[in-house]
Amino acid sequence: RKIYMITPTKTRAEQIADLTRLAQTLYLIPNLVWIVIEDESQLTRRIHRLLQSFYLPFIHLNIATPDYLKPTQNQSTWRRPRGMIQKNIGLQWIRQNTNSNDDALIYFADDDNTYHWKLFQEIRKVQSVGVWPVGLVGELLYERPICLNGKVHSWFHYMYRKRKFPTDMAGFAIHLHLIHQYSNYIFNVSANSIAEQESQILNTMTTIDQLECLANNASKIYVWHTKTQSMFLTSIEKLRNAGMNYDLINEL
Ligand code: UGA
Ligand code: MN
Repeated sequence: RKIYMITPTKTRAEQIADLTRLAQTLYLIPNLVWIVIEDESQLTRRIHRLLQSFYLPFIHLNIATPDYLKPTQNQSTWRRPRGMIQKNIGLQWIRQNTNSNDDALIYFADDDNTYHWKLFQEIRKVQSVGVWPVGLVGELLYERPICLNGKVHSWFHYMYRKRKFPTDMAGFAIHLHLIHQYSNYIFNVSANSIAEQESQILNTMTTIDQLECLANNASKIYVWHTKTQSMFLTSIEKLRNAGMNYDLINEL
């Protein structure tokens, strides 16, 4: 069974390192198409070179987040949904390039999370929508569905308690037929949908009692919502004043 994995990716100093780590995880995973959507107005050569260097099946797309959807200068980044229009472009590609009766799974995978290879074995078990624990998220060591006989009974979660499906984007996969069945569904990109994106897509495409509990009845953690810290870097201008400049431009 094929997995289509949608990864939005933002231009930043740590991007190539994060994508390298993720690409190397994907070496462990057969039959996966990696859909990488750059948050850029054009495809960049550096990301293209990186993707090509791994000989993995990939689709390289782009769309820039418009300024009005970005956090304002004095707003922290979590005040705006991140990578949502990029995910929507990924969904559009999938709808245009697959058939509704293909047997395949869709997974949304941020570029800085940590994925165990066994997660992908679980994703391949999904019949309609599967759920599992996610480590290091929502101000907890993990969030998870609490399951009885493979069905969701309740959720272990702390933040944003009003969420109907209190799971991170990394905590579920959806069968392709639902992506085609709900062919108009796109993620809401507005600021008032913070933390609601997961609930919105799941509430549209499934119900709590249809969810399939995976990862040994949601007792195993196979994905962690790790965050790459942004490095302090000396400004180009200061370097220039010190008589220095970067020459490995192709590597950046
Ligand atoms: C959490 C969820 O895990 C994300 O799936 C969800 O998109 C996000 O919250 C949200 O609701 O906004 P988090 O770690 O807080 O993720 O966010 P980031 O890792 O900073 O961004 C998520 C993805 O979008 C990353 O792959 C990142 O490279 C990409 N991104 C981020 C962009 O494409 N553009 C941006 O401006 C920011
Ligand atoms: Mn992240």
